[in-house]
Amino acid sequence: MNILITGATSGIGKQVALDYAAAGHHVVACGRNQESLAALVAQFPNNIAGQQLDVTDVEATQNVLKTYLDLDVVILSAGVCEYVDIETFSTAMFERVYEVNIFGTLRCVEALLPNLRRGAKLVFVGSTARLLPFTRAEAYGSSKAALQYIARSLQVDLADRGIRVQTVSPGFVETPMTDANDFEMPMRVSVEFASKAIRQGIKANRTDITFPRVFGWFLKILSRLPQSWQVAVSKRIA
Ligand SMILES: NC(=O)c1ccc[n+]([C@@H]2O[C@H](COP(=O)([O-])OP(=O)(O)OC[C@H]3O[C@@H](n4cnc5c(N)ncnc54)[C@H](OP(=O)(O)O)[C@@H]3O)[C@@H](O)[C@H]2O)c1
Repeated sequence: MNILITGATSGIGKQVALDYAAAGHHVVACGRNQESLAALVAQFPNNIAGQQLDVTDVEATQNVLKTYLDLDVVILSAGVCEYVDIETFSTAMFERVYEVNIFGTLRCVEALLPNLRRGAKLVFVGSTARLLPFTRAEAYGSSKAALQYIARSLQVDLADRGIRVQTVSPGFVETPMTDANDFEMPMRVSVEFASKAIRQGIKANRTDITFPRVFGWFLKILSRLPQSWQVAVSKRIA
């Protein structure tokens, strides 16, 4: 398969790129970090092509991604996380997070969609953070909630074109993103676990790939409680 992955220079995207390449697939690994791209290519010179890409660069994202014409799977994993400090509430911080997680992802879709053929898969990496009103997650959680809504609508609108849209909602995964967290992260899994869950879910054509399963079920049940109960639960967690 020909697979394009954004956010392939680190964490989840990097492991998925390595695992697909090890299985003999052809991977276009995208990201800004040149060194990390070069290291990926050095590991699998015949199976990984590095593509420098900053998804906040409107023109470059369009010009670069529109050149890929024969993709079977697109995994949009580039993302950033910042937490709100309620004492210094900042719209600029929301803008930074939305710029990558929402608009950056949409720019990739805009550039790639015209050339995606029947049978292709478009995979959005969201987060289980979208399921509950977690403390300090106003920006990150809402960016992932927006992405989930967009993906679900695209599941409707791309069905006739034969393009399968899949969503990934990870719990906590050991990556540089969560290494920066200073709170407890229950059921945190390795990148290898995350990559396996994502690749298996893509292969099985799952619409919603949530892992680890028990963590996902727990949050999904909580997300069906009345809003006041959800807030009470989140206050206890905080
Ligand atoms: N780790 C978790 O527990 C967890 C849980 C739920 C969801 N997720 C989601 O999973 C995805 C991957 O996260 P991760 O944990 O693997 O994080 P990570 O290790 O920090 O990797 C983030 C990736 O996003 C790329 N990126 C960031 N800004 C970019 C930009 N402007 N243009 C292009 N690429 C950019 C980075 O590449 P460059 O810096 O090279 O550009 C990097 O490859 C994210 O969408 C995240 O929200 C993670």
